[in-house]
Amino acid sequence: MADTAKNPKKRCNGGVAEDDAYKSKSSKMTKQAAADPAQALASARHEFGEHGGVNMSIEASATFTVMEADTMRKMFSGELGPDRDFFVYSRHFNPTVLNLARQMAAIEGTEAAYCTASGMSAISSLLLQVCGAGGHIVASRCLYGGTHALMAHFLPRACGITTTFVDAGDLEGVREAIRDGQTKMLYVETMSNPTLAVADIPGLSRVAKEKGVMLVVDNTFTPMVVSPARLGADVVVHSVSKFISGGADIIAGAICGPASLVNSMMDLQHGALMLLGPTMNAKVAFELSERLPHLSLRMKEHSARALAYATRMKKMGVKVIYPGLEDHPNHAILSSIANPGYGFGGMMCVDMGTEERANRLMHHLQNTTQFGLMAVSLGYYETLMSCSGSSTSSELSAREKELAGISPGLVRMSVGYSGTVEQRWSQLEKALLRMQDELVLNNNNNNS
Ligand SMILES: Cc1ncc(COP(=O)(O)O)c(C=O)c1O
Repeated sequence: MADTAKNPKKRCNGGVAEDDAYKSKSSKMTKQAAADPAQALASARHEFGEHGGVNMSIEASATFTVMEADTMRKMFSGELGPDRDFFVYSRHFNPTVLNLARQMAAIEGTEAAYCTASGMSAISSLLLQVCGAGGHIVASRCLYGGTHALMAHFLPRACGITTTFVDAGDLEGVREAIRDGQTKMLYVETMSNPTLAVADIPGLSRVAKEKGVMLVVDNTFTPMVVSPARLGADVVVHSVSKFISGGADIIAGAICGPASLVNSMMDLQHGALMLLGPTMNAKVAFELSERLPHLSLRMKEHSARALAYATRMKKMGVKVIYPGLEDHPNHAILSSIANPGYGFGGMMCVDMGTEERANRLMHHLQNTTQFGLMAVSLGYYETLMSCSGSSTSSELSAREKELAGISPGLVRMSVGYSGTVEQRWSQLEKALLRMQDELVLNNNNNNS
């Protein structure tokens, strides 16, 4: 059997037969991007199973055989690669993980993608690859606590990569913070964790292009809802552990961007993904690719419920933060960049003023009315809630939290879709009314 016919049963539907992005030196590029992420996903190449199954087979091998000894040399020199179905070792490329990467690239409208073992490994590998020792990043001051700690503490100590944190909504301030020749990257979250500030991606992209720096956008909170690369971002990163997984049972990440970037990160001598090795397991990749086709439906439902609860809470006089509400300061930006039909996302915050009141509300929501679960993370079918200041943003100092707008009483909610809207609303309302009653009782006791 010739190496070029290693897998005669392999079949696929749609997309291009040769993989254009993960190319060996001899392949060509052809790609067409659809504007809607669900449409793009449906147009991506569909892999069938080895025996004609509607699902692709899981390629569980760590290593791959060749039929002729010389093929190995050609694979290591880059002459033959995954684009032509030549695989060496699964820390490099694995067919099942590559299939998921292709789906992620279709959703985000990028040329290529690579899937990793966690969101943090995707982010840290990218930062190390792009910035290099002594490089400089300009980042939003409101980022997920782990990303903030990576930039503020780990990278300066480990390799002298430093970050200037700015108000990402102030484009002039962003421009001024970029240092000619030293700044390599502008880094923001589409919707910030946990304050839900929305980045003006087209505006940031203009600044990044003018200054010659890479715009990286973490789109963990808003897959399908916003497509940063279609708006000018160079690279999109994800914690796939969240909405994309949807099951709160997997830790995973992704980097979506130009094929040249992904290929450089796989370089045998210099590639951060190849050499640090945060690769995804093929069985995990298979599980995730089965969930992507219903991501659009899930996001629509998360969004519809978050909007319904936020609207009703606002009417009750609760201090609710949801960019889907017309009076949210970033509502106009989000409306202008969101993909039509996916709503405004499934994340919502309630500001209870103090940590004590935030904890009391979460206690009632979980233990009195069964509305949701006290847990970090997001994107699950049950509602998850946490007090950000004392949990997922606890890496920030008190001053950093203040600057980022993280109130001590901020309860971040990832709105689930289990149960009916009315059932869940009555549970949420009951807990909020209980909090209002307790406040009146406390005030009366203090006054008497
Ligand atoms: C916005 C954001 N980015 C990145 C991460 C890190 O992802 P992971 O937990 O998959 O490593 C998180 C985790 O909470 C997150 O919320």
